[in-house]
Amino acid sequence: MNKLKPLMLGMMALLLPLLIQAQNEPLLLEVDLDDKVSDVSPNMWGLFFEDINFAADGGLYAEMIKNYSFEFENPMMGWRRVEDNGAKGYVFNRNHPSGVNHKYLRLQRLNNTGNFGVSNEGFRGMAVKEGLKYTVTFIAKLAKGDNLALNTKLLDGGEEIGEGSVSGFTSEWAEYEIVMTADKTLDGVGFHVLLEGEGELDIDMISMFPEDTWMGRKRGLRKDLVQLLADMEPGFLRFPGGCIVEGFDLENRYEWKKTIGEMEDREVIKNRWNIEFAHRTTPDYYQSFGIGFFEYFQLSEDLGAEPLPILSCGLACQFNTGEQVAIGALDEYVNDALDLIEFANGPVDSKWGAKRAEMGHPEPFDLKFIGVGNENWGPQYIERAKIFEKAIKAAYPEITIVSTSGPFPDGHEFDYLWGELREMDAELVDEHYYRPPSWFRENARRYDDYDRNGPKVFAGEYAAHSTTVSESWKRNNWEAALSEAAFMTGLERNADVVRLASYAPLFAHVNGWQWNPDLIWFDNLRSYGTTNYHVQKLFSTNRGTDVLPITADGKSLAGEDNLYASAVLDEDSGEMIFKIVNTSTAAKKVSIKLDGKYRGNGEGVLIEMAHEDLEAFNSLENPVAVEPQEKSFIISKKTIELELKGQSVNVGKVKLSK
Ligand code: AHR
Repeated sequence: MNKLKPLMLGMMALLLPLLIQAQNEPLLLEVDLDDKVSDVSPNMWGLFFEDINFAADGGLYAEMIKNYSFEFENPMMGWRRVEDNGAKGYVFNRNHPSGVNHKYLRLQRLNNTGNFGVSNEGFRGMAVKEGLKYTVTFIAKLAKGDNLALNTKLLDGGEEIGEGSVSGFTSEWAEYEIVMTADKTLDGVGFHVLLEGEGELDIDMISMFPEDTWMGRKRGLRKDLVQLLADMEPGFLRFPGGCIVEGFDLENRYEWKKTIGEMEDREVIKNRWNIEFAHRTTPDYYQSFGIGFFEYFQLSEDLGAEPLPILSCGLACQFNTGEQVAIGALDEYVNDALDLIEFANGPVDSKWGAKRAEMGHPEPFDLKFIGVGNENWGPQYIERAKIFEKAIKAAYPEITIVSTSGPFPDGHEFDYLWGELREMDAELVDEHYYRPPSWFRENARRYDDYDRNGPKVFAGEYAAHSTTVSESWKRNNWEAALSEAAFMTGLERNADVVRLASYAPLFAHVNGWQWNPDLIWFDNLRSYGTTNYHVQKLFSTNRGTDVLPITADGKSLAGEDNLYASAVLDEDSGEMIFKIVNTSTAAKKVSIKLDGKYRGNGEGVLIEMAHEDLEAFNSLENPVAVEPQEKSFIISKKTIELELKGQSVNVGKVKLSK
C-alpha cells in the first residue's frame, strides 16, 4: 500500500488540473433567435391590490385622518378630547337622520379660556414634510352661539409647526377648508381641531391631505407609493382583492356600487382584515372607500395597466363563515357584474356610464377582464360561476372571465375545480400559491405539461414564504426573491399557458400589517421595494413579446445544476432578453450561443441581482441592501461568455438590429 501511495499522489497531481478545468468549463446554452415559440401576453406581469396591511386607508389613499366621519363602531376611535388650561366643554356624537354617513361630532364649549376640541391620531401616527401644504376640509353647522372659529394645528409636542383657522359658520351644513404649511418634517406630528368662542359647532368629515398627491389630485393617492407601482410598468391591476372581495360574511363583502360617487355616500365598513390573524389584531381597521372602483379604474389608466376587477360570486370567505346566497337570490350579484361592465365601458347615456361621466371620466375605461369569485371552492362555486358566465357572455361576449381554482395550488379541491372549469371551457383560471421557497424552485416546470388547448392560467397571487426567522414573521428575504425568480422563468417559458401573473399582497404599513411577506413596505413618510419587488420589476420591465427557446443540450433549464433560464424577443425594442437564475452558492460560467439572425459581434447589458446571504433583505433603514446592478458584456462570434455570481438573478439584453 505504501508503495502505491506516491503513484496515486502523482496521478492525482496530474488529474486535478483537468478536473478543475472540467468544473470551470462553461455550460453551453443556445438561444434560437428565429424560433418564436409563442407570444408573451402584453399584460403578463401585473399587480394584485387588496386593502390589507393598511394598503388603502393609511397607505395608498393619502387621507391622514383616521375615522374621518366618526362612522367606526366606536365613533370616537382615533379621536381624543383636548381640554387644557381651564377650557370647559363637551364632545358628543350625534346622528344624521338619513344617508349612510350617520354620525357627526358636536363640540360644545362652555368658556373661552385654554384650548378645547379634539385631536386625531392618524394611521399609526401622522407625518408631515417641511414646506408642504396640508389641506383640511370638513363640513360644519352652527348649533349655538356666534363668532365661533375653528383652528387647526400641527404640533411637535407643545410646539406649533403649522396652523390655520376658519370662521363664519351658519346654521346650514356647509364645507370649509383650511390650508396649513408644515414648518418641519416630522413623523409623529400632533393634529388638533380647536373651537374658539363659546357655543356649539357640529362638525363632520374632517379630512386632511398633503398637496403632493399622485398627479396633484385632490383627495388623491400617495405619490411615492404610486411611483413604485408605475416604475414596474405593470400589465394589469387586479383589485380590490383578495378575501376582501368575499367578506367575512356576505354583508361584509365588497360592493362596488357603494364605493363610487361622493364620499358621504360611500358607507364606511369594517375591513375584512379587522380580525385576529397571524397572532395580531387590528381593531381600528375600517374601509372608508376613499379608493373605490372609480379610483381603481383611474389608477389602472394612470399606470397603463389593464383593470382587472374581481367580484363576489355570492359566497363569503369559506375560511370564515362561508355564507352562501341562495341561487334564487343570485341576480343581485350577477347584476353587479353586468352593471360594473357598463360603469367601465358603457356610453355616457347608459345608467352606469352616466355615473362614470359624472365622476369626471366620460371616456370608457375599456375593461377587458372580470373575475368571478376569489379563492372559492366546491360545487357551490361552480354552480354560481356557471350562472355568472351565462349572463356575462350573453351581454358582453368580448369580456374575458377569470375563474378561481381555490386557495391552494394542488389537492382535491384544486383538481375538482380544474376538472369542472375545463368542462366549462373557462378562459382564465386564477391559481394561488403561498409556499416555501423550495416549492418555487421545485415547481419551475409546473406549467411545462399543462394542456396547451385548455383554459389559460392567471397566477393571481403568489409569494415564497420563508419561515427562517419565525413561523409568523416571514421576511422578504433574498432566498424568497431568488426562488420566485427561478419559478418565474418557468412562467415565462410557458407564456402560452400563463397569461397573467401577480405577486401578493402588494403593500404593508410597517406598523399596521396583518400578513407578510409583502411587495412594498412603508411608514407614514417613507417606502421601499423589497428584494421581491426588484425581481418582479426586472421581469415586468423586460417582458418581451415572444418566447424564444434557451436550451442546454437541447433541453430547457429549470433547476438542472441550480440554473433556471428563459428568453424572449422584444419586437418593439428589437432586443433579445434572457433571464438566468443561479440558485447555487457557487458562481457559474455560461457560454450563450445566439443561433439565427445576429450580426456576430456586439455589446449587451447585464442587470444582475445577487447576494451571498439568503437572509439579506431591504428595509426602511437600508432600502437598497439587495438591488439590481447594471454592467455590460461583449458578444463575440455570436457568443456571450458570462460568469454568473452565486445566488443571482441575471437579465441580459442584446440589441439585435443594427
Ligand atoms: O394576499 C392575502 C390573501 O391571501 C388574499 O386576500 C387571499 O386571496 C389569499 O388567501
